[in-house]
Amino acid sequence: MNFTFWKKLKALILFNFIFQIICRNRWKFLAQFLVISYLSVHVSLQPYVVKLIIEALSINPVFSNIIIPILCYISLELLFNFISRIYDYLCLQLYPTIKTEVIAYATEIVSHHEHAFFQNEFSGSIANKIKELSRGVNDTLKILFDRFFHFFLTLIIASYTLMQIHPLLSFTLIIYTLFVIIISVFFNKNIRVYSRTFSEANSQVTGAIVDRFINILSIKLFRTYVNEAKELDMNLKIAKRKEKVLRWYILKVIFLQGIMTTFMIGVSLLILSFSAQDHSISVGDFALVLTLSISITNIILSFSQDISYFSECFGQVSQGVSLLERKRKAQDISNAKNLLVTRGKIEFSQVYFSHISGMPLFNNQSIVIPGGQKVGLVGYSGNGKSTFLNLILRLFDLDSGEILIDGQDISLISQESLHRAITVIPQEATLFHRSILENIRYGCLNASDEEITQAAKKAAAHEFIMSLPSGYSTLVGERGIKLSGGERQRIAIARAFLKGSPILLLDEATSALDSVTEGLIKESLSTLMKGKTVIAIAHRLSTLFKMDRILVIDQGKVVEDGTFKKLFQSNGIFHKLCSTQVLA
Ligand SMILES: Nc1ncnc2c1ncn2[C@@H]1O[C@H](COP(=O)(O)OP(=O)(O)O)[C@@H](O)[C@H]1O
Ligand SMILES: [Mg+2]
Repeated sequence: MNFTFWKKLKALILFNFIFQIICRNRWKFLAQFLVISYLSVHVSLQPYVVKLIIEALSINPVFSNIIIPILCYISLELLFNFISRIYDYLCLQLYPTIKTEVIAYATEIVSHHEHAFFQNEFSGSIANKIKELSRGVNDTLKILFDRFFHFFLTLIIASYTLMQIHPLLSFTLIIYTLFVIIISVFFNKNIRVYSRTFSEANSQVTGAIVDRFINILSIKLFRTYVNEAKELDMNLKIAKRKEKVLRWYILKVIFLQGIMTTFMIGVSLLILSFSAQDHSISVGDFALVLTLSISITNIILSFSQDISYFSECFGQVSQGVSLLERKRKAQDISNAKNLLVTRGKIEFSQVYFSHISGMPLFNNQSIVIPGGQKVGLVGYSGNGKSTFLNLILRLFDLDSGEILIDGQDISLISQESLHRAITVIPQEATLFHRSILENIRYGCLNASDEEITQAAKKAAAHEFIMSLPSGYSTLVGERGIKLSGGERQRIAIARAFLKGSPILLLDEATSALDSVTEGLIKESLSTLMKGKTVIAIAHRLSTLFKMDRILVIDQGKVVEDGTFKKLFQSNGIFHKLCSTQVLA
């Protein structure tokens, strides 16, 4: 029962989503309806004019007699051409707009999903789903309002036209259409299965190619070109086999439909021949029925293909919509107030938190970090240090308990104000593939170029930036790949200078750097820390020497708390960690 309820709800959301798009573009859709209506009339009108020409020819083939229907035919063709281009123009106005609207809308919604969502999904796969959603919505609307509408209207007009000649012709057309639709619905199920397995095999091929280029350096250095070629070849062979199965099946369906089409035209001709015997129909009617049958069968056959494409598109849309409408966590409450930072005091009050339910990481954790204090966070890997920082940022919701900043519960304040008050420098600063200037400006979007240069100078980044070929305009490559780890980190620090928020969180900000670069950065970091509340996770314990206080986290619990000196002298985890580093 629950399942049906969810299905209904999803359908409703889907309907609402598409309905909004239609409403926004209603005039364009209406214009398209009018144009398509004419095109549907044309399918029967053109054979009718052919009939007039042939009748004029057979009754009295003089120029004055046949010129009028011929002129009619030419005008009709001109009109058809003109209206068809209007149709193309409307499509041009409508469908690219719908695509961009859907992409913008979906990307905006997904960007606001909680942090955990992005940890569980591949970015590439999210981007792919959004693109598929936009294609799905676009094609679903196109098939519904354009192809299906055109098909039904054409069928009604054609049946009416045929009925005027002989009711049996109209009956034959309808029976034929029903058969084609039944066959296509019947075989559609298998086509979908074959098409899905083919598309999966194709994804495997893409995956194998991507994997190859990701690992290109290993392939070069281990000289495993032959092996890799075999690996890809295996995937390609599977994809080829699946494609053949699919194409062969489609070929059989099309063959069956072709036989039915011939049968339908044959029956129509027989009906005409019998009727011709008592002179109830003319030569022109013969021509009309033949021309109309050829046009209408093409439309009916392409409609049968549209049916299968429609179910594919609809599937894509409902998959995409479930990406948008998932239940969100860690969202602002309504009327959330802004955080007001006075001293920058951070307090954990009886915090319970688990990544996986039933396996708590923080279990009744309470701790107070006074405003302006510099705290070092240490502990073995995987013991919850990064999670400690992420909870302050409210990237996850607590199971129970509170985290307070200057006495304000962070779950009740707006995340925008929370994130404005906190700067994070992670272990690996990732940059946008934009210029260095734009990347630093990320700390404060309305900073002047001069302020950016000042921030870069404070972060000891100015010199290396000036030595780059395009200085501050240098593009940094995807995720900042063209810069070294130390350079990226200094840009992150420059950003932090620019942002100037009162709370600073460092997650192993210097662990990936060599000691010379670390020395360079250390100074700028200590300038940055001045006057701020700082929590710094550090791997190299020597970097924590100047901290006011050290917290040792073990299995989600603060087990040691004190100054560097005090903890070093006690015989606990911190002492053990220090000794191993000295020995190393
Ligand atoms: N998004 C997540 N989902 C599930 N488990 C997670 C997630 N993030 C971290 N963990 C787990 O939580 C524990 C603490 O991780 P973390 O806070 O990153 O540790 P540390 O920074 O001390 O190395 C680890 O066991 C880790 O596997
Ligand atoms: Mg960590």
